[in-house]
Amino acid sequence: MNIKKRVGIAIAAIALVGAASALAILPAAAEKTVVEPKMTGPLMLGKSAFTRYCAECHGPVGQGTDKGPTFIHRVYHPGHHGDGSFYLAAKKGARAHHWKFGDMKPVKGVTDAQLEKIVMYVRALQKANGLF
Ligand code: HEC
Repeated sequence: MNIKKRVGIAIAAIALVGAASALAILPAAAEKTVVEPKMTGPLMLGKSAFTRYCAECHGPVGQGTDKGPTFIHRVYHPGHHGDGSFYLAAKKGARAHHWKFGDMKPVKGVTDAQLEKIVMYVRALQKANGLF
């Protein structure tokens, strides 16, 4: 193998390790540094519904807990998990497939109107924390 090829492979390997560790530390890093968006009336309603129905597992500002994932992660970017997936998860639950927290059960009592505000709050959190 010539030296150019070797260097190329080494660089590719380093890039791969770098990408993997960036992914691994993202949720942990988000936990410490979540920035709250500038709060408006609808966002406050969203936050209070989020606190009541979602925060137990997804964390008070969506940073995640030991029971559920952070939403400040590219997995939950609107292009990957559209707003509809939030309604679906709340109504039907979600099978564990991205993480190892287990399944999410349907959330009892949350209304469509509350979910609309919850999604607004989550998107604002994601935006305030540079996800898009
Ligand atoms: C009892 C814990 C718990 C509560 C309460 C909870 N979730 Fe979850 N949620 C989870 C877990 C665990 C997952 C991860 C499933 C996986 O591995 O992909 C999840 C995943 C999700 C997903 C991704 C679903 C998918 O299609 O991949 C969405 C969206 C979501 N939750 C929204 C919500 C909303 C909105 C609320 C509040 C109305 C809420 N969750 C309340 C535990 C919870």
